[in-house]
Formats: sequence, structure tokens, C-alpha cells
Amino acid sequence: MATQVQAHGLGESYKRKEDARFIRGQGNYVDDVDLPGMLYGDIVRSPYGHALIKSIDISEAMKVPGVLAVITGKDLDAAGLAWMPTLSADTEAVLALDRVHYQMQEVAFVVATSRYAAADGAAAVEVDYEPLPVVVDPKKALEPDAPLLRPDKKDKQPTNHIYHWETGDRAATDAAFAEAAANGVVVRQHMYIPRIHPAPIETCGCVADYQKATGKLTVWMTSQAPHAHRTLFAIVAGLPEHRIRIISPDVGGGFGNKVPIYPGYVCAVVASITTGKPVKWIEDRTENLTSTGFARDYHIKAEIAADKDGTVKALRVYTLADHGAFDAAAQPTKFPAGLFHICTGSYDFKNAFVEVDAAHTNKAPGGIAYRCSFRVTEASYLIERAMDTLAHEVGKDPAQLRLQNFIRPEAFPYRSALNWTYDSGNYEAALQLAMKNVDYEGLRREQAEKRARGELMGIGISSFTEIVGAGPGKHFDIAGIQMFDSCEIRVHPTGKILARIGVQTQGQGHETTFAQIIAAELGISPDDVDVEHGDTDTAPYGLGTYASRSTPVAGAATAIAARKVRDKAKKIAAYLLEVGEEDLEWEPGRFYVKGTPSKGKTIQELAFAAYTNCPPYLEPGLEAVDYYDPPNLTYPFGSYICVVDIDRGTGEVHIRRFMAVDDCGTIINPMVVEGQIHGGLTQGLAPALYEELSYDEHGNVHGSNFQDYLIPTAIETPNWETDKTFTPSPHHPIGAKGIGESPTVGAPQAIANAVVDALSHVGVRHIDIPITPWKVWSILKEKGLTSD
Ligand code: CDP
Repeated sequence: MATQVQAHGLGESYKRKEDARFIRGQGNYVDDVDLPGMLYGDIVRSPYGHALIKSIDISEAMKVPGVLAVITGKDLDAAGLAWMPTLSADTEAVLALDRVHYQMQEVAFVVATSRYAAADGAAAVEVDYEPLPVVVDPKKALEPDAPLLRPDKKDKQPTNHIYHWETGDRAATDAAFAEAAANGVVVRQHMYIPRIHPAPIETCGCVADYQKATGKLTVWMTSQAPHAHRTLFAIVAGLPEHRIRIISPDVGGGFGNKVPIYPGYVCAVVASITTGKPVKWIEDRTENLTSTGFARDYHIKAEIAADKDGTVKALRVYTLADHGAFDAAAQPTKFPAGLFHICTGSYDFKNAFVEVDAAHTNKAPGGIAYRCSFRVTEASYLIERAMDTLAHEVGKDPAQLRLQNFIRPEAFPYRSALNWTYDSGNYEAALQLAMKNVDYEGLRREQAEKRARGELMGIGISSFTEIVGAGPGKHFDIAGIQMFDSCEIRVHPTGKILARIGVQTQGQGHETTFAQIIAAELGISPDDVDVEHGDTDTAPYGLGTYASRSTPVAGAATAIAARKVRDKAKKIAAYLLEVGEEDLEWEPGRFYVKGTPSKGKTIQELAFAAYTNCPPYLEPGLEAVDYYDPPNLTYPFGSYICVVDIDRGTGEVHIRRFMAVDDCGTIINPMVVEGQIHGGLTQGLAPALYEELSYDEHGNVHGSNFQDYLIPTAIETPNWETDKTFTPSPHHPIGAKGIGESPTVGAPQAIANAVVDALSHVGVRHIDIPITPWKVWSILKEKGLTSD
């Protein structure tokens, strides 16, 4: 296990002013890798949002002491490496050739003997640009006279339109809307979910070390999916896969940001192969925020058809997705808009129809599943906001409307109108518990009293359903690789265990919880189990950690591998105890002869026998491996209630209470789950009130540092109150569903609903997130509600 390094700041070791450029906040284990003769890379990036590259002059850069090489797009082109495949089967320029498509796009890679020389060299590269018209609005990108942003693929795609995707029954949905228009109600809500960034405290980076003598490439990198990255490196660089080793033991926050392969990784590999030396490339904060995987950027129109009493009938959704310059969206191949069609949420819609169009713009490529199971955050936000709009329309309390429309507990397994099979759920129980915990009726009385006094208080509900654990290999693959996951267990002769898993922790505590799974299955102490991951030379193949898939998929593999170990131990026990297997009973940690509990063998004794006194008809040793292809996804859920007060002088939203009731089935470790919920809620608060990456008409990106891109700190974060219900997954070996992303998925709309609720009496029906004090104050001003 690599040690976590101390925070890098402007300490004694940093003497030069430029060192400010290298501050990354908390440590970066890749930056701690220090190899003899190591070189450093830095990237020259485009200041323009869209421009032609007329020339690149590297002569001044090569004069900078310590600079050894400058790699350009043309150099890569000569080696056949100018373009790399994205996770959505687009091609992305590793280094720009004749055109830059977004501000901060990679143009050249400078290799030098020190980090400082590389930075100076990058500053000395002279690029002559001819600016082109910039398009940052996807609606404008689809207008007939819009400039073609990707002429490199004009034969296959003659406009900026990337794809149209639709699912559901259009005719039946339209008919339900016609019926509701005549005899019921139809509500329509436009909403924009802005471009945001996962902003992990540790930025991306790698050390690539190609050894000419052995032909082996070792890459230490910030990767959420080391095995998939190894395979992609083999395919992209044409290197033999068995001679590539990706090491990624500690990752300082991923949240989807470390799923794609970025040009910096490829350039470091090329530079190492070229120079024969290890090459380190570490991103700075601005590079991370502006050029790596963004999230969201969905323009949505959601419509609900309902009876006059608010009973929902049909959902219709149209979405325009902004994918930026290259379609590098990270999601299963068969689902171009991810799992967005989980948008019927927790409600029993009989019909639904969803359409998504995607467009190129002059923005960084993406988007990634930021603590989210491939667009489920967008889906959950739209349905929870639209349900509140419906509640206002039919004059019902939003809690009552939800209780009226929930999928009933007895309806599970439930087939949704958009063809998902929800495994289990009890939505009423979660909402009722949340309402009881906050005294919902009391809060509504308080709100009425405050309103009468001119005070602004709002209560917002989000009763979300998640979809995690991608996924059944038949339907889910990334870049063609099926989304199974794995665990390998080795029981040593003394009964101590080494387990290796195909997923990759970024602080979720897999070392603890996966050891607990094995310990529970074998009846031993978790202290006797070590869990390793993140080294492709040792860990079994897996698709990595994102979209809360670790517990549903690798967690299941771990339980099953442990059961395989137990099965073999049983055979050994039968041999040692001289009985048939059918005569044995199991109690945690031990097999004993039925009816004679004193005659038994512990798992440790059986492990020792596996190596010292193994039955002649069995292979010696006690090991097992499982590659688990889940039969279905898991559907965690929750009900959140947020209470806000709004300052009429400043427009500031103060979250007074936030009650989060979550249900992730069987919980392995309550403390780990609690940590996941607290962190996830804070990352749900972030887009609701603070975070946005916006662009001006020139393609300048706003939000390139933590002064402009506002991530919440402990000061902004409210006191999260939590509670649980328990509805196990019927198909997961231990009944566990994922939890990591639920709070991030569920929280934003609870906050948005609360703010809208506070202003609903003056006709406010929607405010786009992030709900900044300025937006709120402007509404207060317009409605004559500001205080002096
Ligand atoms: O894929 P990722 O690890 O991000 O998400 P997850 O599967 O939801 O797990 C996050 C952490 O919570 C892991 O350490 C899990 O083992 C733990 N967890 C748990 O203890 N019980 C659950 N029912 C779900 C997750």
C-alpha cells in the first residue's frame, strides 16, 4: 500500500514563485512516485475556444535549460497516435493537429528534467492561432447555419448533431397526454442542469515508465478503472497487454473524473517510450477543472399527464445534451444517454417516452457520471422537480402527492414503463419515516405562521429511486468489455486471508467492507483478511469503481468467492471428520458433525489441512476466484426532506434542516455507509447552491479555480440528519445495494424544491440550479419581497 503523502503547499521545499502553479491541495500518491532519472511533462494548452493552428514554433522552448523534447500533434500523427478512441466511440485528438476545439485543449507536451523546466518550456512554445467562431450553446450548434465544429468526421456526421436516442411508447404516451389535456391536468417544466465538475481534491496524473530491456510499461496513474485502462492502452498504443502494468492503489477522490483516459496520460507514455526514461505528468487545479471530464449539461423539458386528483398517468421528456467538442461520455455502450430513462423514478407511470439529442459545442469533452450511475442524477432531478410542479398545479401537498403515486411495496419486482425491473422497494416507509423525524405537519404549520409574518420558509422533498450495479453483461459494456467484476481469495495455511478485488477504492473503504464480507461468510475476524486492489499485475480483471457498482457487483463476487472457499473447506472437513458432507452443519467459523457439536473443525484448521493433509481426491490449497455477472441492477432509494429559510435582504438560502432517509438494503458497515451519505449529501448540496462551469460567448470557461468554482466547505455544509430503512435486494448474495452516489443523486432537488416551496405563494414554480443569492434576490426584487 502506498503511503498517502502530506499536503503540498508553499512549504520550505518550494522556493520559486511558479510553485503556486503546482499546489494541488491534498496529496497525490502518483506525485510521490520518484524514480531514478525521472523526467517531467507539462502541457501547452489553447487559450482559444475555437481556432485553427497555423504554426507551432518550439525553438525558444528547446533553448530553455532542461527541456529535452516538445511533442506536438504532428509528431503523434507520424506515429499513428494523434487520435484516441473515447468511451463513446468518438475519436479525440490527443494533441491538437490543425484546430483547437475548446479553451484549454492540449496542443503540445514538453518534456524536461524538472517540473519547473517543463513549465518554462511550455510557456516558451509559440503557437500561432487563427480564431474561429465559437459555439457554446447546443441549441445554436444545431441551427442550420452553425459552423461545423468537427470537420474531421464530416463524412460520418455532417452536422454538430451527435445522436438522437429515444425510448418508451410514443403513441401511448401522446394518447395519455391528449386524454389528460381534455379531462385531467398536464404540467410542463423546462430546466437546465448546468455543467459541473467532480473536482476531486487530488487532480489527475501519472508516471509512465517504459523499460526498453524488458519491453514492460508500468504506469502509476490516478485511475478508477485500472484494468480497463490497461486494455485501452494496449489497443491505443499497440503495446502487448501482458507487458503493461497499471498501478493505482490510492486515488484521492474520483467521482467519475478518473474514468476516462486523458491526453496527459498518453503523452507521458509516448514520452517515456521515446526517451527511455520514466516521465511524470501531474495536472494542476485549473487544468483539472477546465479540461477533464465534466458532468451534466442537460437542457430538459419534462411533462407529466395526470388525473385531476394528481394521479400520474404518463411522463414525456425531451432533452438536449451538450457533449462538448469530443463525445467522451462515459457510459455503457448501449445507452448513449446513460441510465437517464430511470426518470419515471419512484412513481407508477403507466406510460413514458424519453428523447435525447446530443450536440457538439466548443467545450471540454465529456460527460462523465459524477457520483452518479450514468445520468441518473439528471433523471432524478427532473422527476422530483416535475412532481412538485404537479403538486402545485393540483393544489396538493407534495408529500401527499408522492404517497398517492408511489410504486406500492407489493408491486416489486416492478417493471417500469421504460423497461427497468426494480428489484425491491418500500418508498412509503422511507417518506413516512422522514416526515415523522422532522415533524412534517409541525413544519407546515410553522411555515404558514411565518408566511403570515412575511418570513420565507420552504420545505422540499425528494423521494428518489437509484439504479446502481452496472451491470448485467448482456446489456452493459464499456468499450466492448462486459461490466462484470471480480474477487480472488487466497487462504494461507494459518487461516489468514489475502483477497484481491477488481474494483478500485478512492476512499470508499473497500479494504474494510470487503474484508467484512469475507469474514461474515467464513465466520472469522475481519482483522484476518487483507484486501488489495489497484495493481493490474495482481488483482483480477474488473471494470473499476464508479456508479456505486462496487458493492452490487464486486461485493457479490466477494461473497460468492468466500462461499466457494467454504464449499471446499466442507469437503476437507468431511474427510478429516470421516463423515459425508451431508452430515455436516455450519456455524460461523466452523463445520461440525450433525448432532455432535463437539466434533468439528474450524476454518483455520481446515485451511491448514488444505496444505498439509488434503484429501487425495482434491487439489491442495484453499483459494477461490469469482467473476460475477449480476442478474440485474440494484435499486437503492431514499426520501430526503430539506427545510430552508431565505434571507429577504440578501437572497441567501439557509438550510435549517436536512433529513436523509436512505435504503441500501443490507448494510455491511454502518459507519462507512454514514460517511458515504455525509460526503454524498455535500456533493448534492454543491450543484444545488454553488457549483457551475459556465462559458462566455468567446468560449472562455468560468470556474477554472476554487475561487470561481465554489465547492462547499464545512462552513456552508449543514448538519446532515440521517436515518435508514432496510429493503434487501432479492438477487444480491447478501442483499446489499450500492449507497455511494444515492445522496448526491437525491439531494439537489430536495434543496431546489424547498427554495421553490418558500416562494411558491408568489407564483414561483422553478429556479434553475445553482440557486445563488443573486438569482433569489432578483426574484424577491421582482416580487416586491426584498427587505430593506
Ligand atoms: O462503488 P462504490 O464503492 O463507490 O459505492 P458502493 O458500492 O455504494 O460502496 C461504498 C462503500 O459503502 C463501500 O465500502 C461499501 O462496501 C459500503 N457499503 C456498505 O457498507 N453497505 C452497503 N449496503 C453498500 C455499501
